[in-house]
Amino acid sequence: MSESYIQNLFAERIGGRQYGKSQAIYKFEKIKRAKRAALARSPGAEIIDLGIGEPDEMAFPEAVEKLCAEARKPENRGYADNGDGVLKQAAARYLERVCGVKGINPETEVIHSIGSKAALSILPAALVNPGDYVLMTIPGYPVFGTHAKYYGGQGYELPLTEENHFLPDLDSVPAAVLKKAKVLVLNYPNNPTGATATPEFFARAVKFVRQHELVVIHDAAYAALVFEGRPLSFLATPGAKEVGLELHSASKSFNMTGWRCGFVAGNELLVKAYGDVKDNTDSGQFLAVQHAAARCFDHPEITEQIAAKYSRRMEGLASVLEKAGFKAQKPKGSFFLYVKAPKAAVKKDGAHVEFQSAEEVSQWLITEKLISTVPWDDAGAYLRLSVTFVAKNPAEENRILVELGHRLGDVRFEF
Ligand SMILES: Cc1ncc(COP(=O)(O)O)c(C=O)c1O
Repeated sequence: MSESYIQNLFAERIGGRQYGKSQAIYKFEKIKRAKRAALARSPGAEIIDLGIGEPDEMAFPEAVEKLCAEARKPENRGYADNGDGVLKQAAARYLERVCGVKGINPETEVIHSIGSKAALSILPAALVNPGDYVLMTIPGYPVFGTHAKYYGGQGYELPLTEENHFLPDLDSVPAAVLKKAKVLVLNYPNNPTGATATPEFFARAVKFVRQHELVVIHDAAYAALVFEGRPLSFLATPGAKEVGLELHSASKSFNMTGWRCGFVAGNELLVKAYGDVKDNTDSGQFLAVQHAAARCFDHPEITEQIAAKYSRRMEGLASVLEKAGFKAQKPKGSFFLYVKAPKAAVKKDGAHVEFQSAEEVSQWLITEKLISTVPWDDAGAYLRLSVTFVAKNPAEENRILVELGHRLGDVRFEF
């Protein structure tokens, strides 16, 4: 069959005429395929899924009830555009109450998002010209960088390494890059490393971006999921509001990934620019969803309950992994445990399996042990294990963790 002329119409940014022809299989698809193959070999077997990147439970009933009540109100039915005041005000209250950020003006310094992913895809249109650099941490959540490239920008990668506590070394950016750089994208607590930032690091980031005339976009999708102390907002840093934005989301904090709601807060001019591009991109999240999310942002005790569950699971998981020979340290937040990938596995019969990458380890774990993980080979070989595996109660959690221990118990890992 001859090729459709449509094949010639695709933009270069998605591959141009070659679009859709690549045989490359991406990481998450490989994991899915390996899972399917493992289940086909052992029908009915239990996969221990530590690869999931979203909450295992529903939103709390009060959020669902609020959504239903708000959905019945005729005044909420139409285009929400950049939102009414309800979520904006709740966001300002939340930043003050939960993160100690005072003085956010809900009218001018907050606009809702249809999730942080949507905000990260909108913001590059407001900031990035062809040839501009954006500083992105790797490993990391790539959405801002992907869209920056769509606009002709370039990504400069800042590796997150254990030696630097998974914080980027800002001094390592070459002067030539800094000259053309516009944005520093940060994300703490971090996906995938689980690392948290410090007030000192954020102060350093503010100084750095001021000095080089960049802005900070801080993706705080996991900000409230902390296991000790108070969530750390970038906006709590002196001077942060002059140089940046922070993105919060109901997705992970309130088990609301599918609801698609969050907010962008910070520098007034940047918020305005986000709002202008957003206005030309979508027509706003349904007000009923925004109002239900606002109710949640006014009830941070929900997040505390969710974080307590992850904290408990994290302790269990870290201890099982330690017993199996991994160096597993419970993070201070997020739901990700990030561990160095082994170089080899030695079975009881002496069989020695060598691994060249985290991806190979991950494939081996799913194939041999029915354990799903996410490999990262961007800055060293690591595995990301998430404590969002499905378990209805602590007894079930415990059963799964004991089972994990059994499965890992008959091999010795070499690092
Ligand atoms: C670092 C990070 N930022 C943003 C998102 C997306 O969040 P949202 O559901 O608010 O779009 C995710 C989701 O996995 C994430 O890991």
